[in-house]
Amino acid sequence: MNQQGDRQVPPRAEEGGGKLAPLPTRVSRGGRGVSLPPPVPPPFASLQRPYAARATAPPTVCVISGDDAAPEVIRPTVEILRSLAPEIRFMEALSGREALARYGNACPDETREAIDHADCTLFGASGGPSRPILWYLRWGKETYVNVRPVRWNPGYRSPMLHPERIDYVIVRDNLEGMYPPREGHIAELSALSSRNFWWQAPPLEKEGAYAVHICTNEQMQRVAVAACELALHRQAAGYPGCVTFGGKYSILPRTDGRFRMIVAETVRTYPSLSYQEFLIDDLARRMVAAPETLDVVVLSNEHGDILADVASGSIGGLGLSPSACYGEDYAYFEPVHGSAPDLAGKGVINPTAMLLSGAMMLEYLGYVEQARCLETAIEQVYREGTVLTSDQGGEASTMEFVEAVQVRYS
Ligand code: NAD
Ligand code: IPM
Ligand code: MN
Repeated sequence: MNQQGDRQVPPRAEEGGGKLAPLPTRVSRGGRGVSLPPPVPPPFASLQRPYAARATAPPTVCVISGDDAAPEVIRPTVEILRSLAPEIRFMEALSGREALARYGNACPDETREAIDHADCTLFGASGGPSRPILWYLRWGKETYVNVRPVRWNPGYRSPMLHPERIDYVIVRDNLEGMYPPREGHIAELSALSSRNFWWQAPPLEKEGAYAVHICTNEQMQRVAVAACELALHRQAAGYPGCVTFGGKYSILPRTDGRFRMIVAETVRTYPSLSYQEFLIDDLARRMVAAPETLDVVVLSNEHGDILADVASGSIGGLGLSPSACYGEDYAYFEPVHGSAPDLAGKGVINPTAMLLSGAMMLEYLGYVEQARCLETAIEQVYREGTVLTSDQGGEASTMEFVEAVQVRYS
């Protein structure tokens, strides 16, 4: 709701350049501090039954360490998860470089089968060699929505003056937009049908390339539903129940404009939720200037990728940002950050993002209490502020931080 209590859902724009509705005013943030928030989202009730409800045996998790410094955070994370939920079976599969060495293929059948066989996957990060595995986890397993919580906790080394205002979730399209790369030579665009004006004509005579941005109703709809379900879940804990869409719908009416309309219309079907929208450049500014106005933020694949790192920077850095990718019947969990090649082998990478991704996985598997226990222990380490890694201004090694967490939950 906005301050007047009106729902701000724009009318449907004509495809290909219909007049777009004026931007709605931003909502006020009513529910902060009402009760403890759910730091990680649950599986989306209307889309997928929680794993725990359909499980007949303890879960199996496929573990893929990934490249560069990623194994240094995933190994202790698995150790902690094992001790919190001993019945979970962790099955390691080869990362890209090792798979290439053994099978001559960075994503061999063995790795794909291990992923398929498991109930979900815990993934470190790809620094290049493991990228085909990432492709399989996203498109092979159709994990269509990427959830990236953005929340400052006391002790996080944020560059913001008032980081306590930051507590929202990015919901990112994980399959379409400009991903996966579908690129070609500019000359191939000669048959482009949307070339209505002289200034839209591709410069066919020039040497160059293009990339394709895909936006299907089916995918945008399920991402929108996931965002609404998440907003509902947060609303139950006192959040305002506000879905924000950000996109370049002014310039890309048929793709970002379509996504915008689908999100707006989906929110309309959830009477308790409110909606706001901003052009992506303005939204980027708001993430810095007024993060307290954000609750659940829906973004395209590439916008979500970029702004998730910006958001991460606002709370204190990539070492702190977890993420989960959900599909209808599969999920995988990875930090927002990459393989941090500059830190590889030094034993100083911050494991918080990986640990919190592990907590999101525990929740997905139905180990809610254990997830909270892990999150609370991490929060305590930050509140105390004595055992922090160098990205957070401390001198602790990765393992010293991990041990500090272990001591606080055991
Ligand atoms: P990056 O996220 O690996 O690192 C960016 C900066 O953040 C570096 O200075 C790094 O040291 C720091 N950083 C990252 N994680 C940290 C942590 N846990 N603790 C402390 N500092 C941390 O991004 P990059 O350097 O641009 O990319 C490296 C590789 O990772 C590239 O190949 C990129 O494609 C890949 N990548 C993979 C994923 C993924 O697998 N999901 C995500 C992002 C980037
Ligand atoms: C991420 C990464 C990936 C992405 C890369 C490694 C393909 O940056 O997960 O944030 O762009 O989605
Ligand atoms: Mn990224």
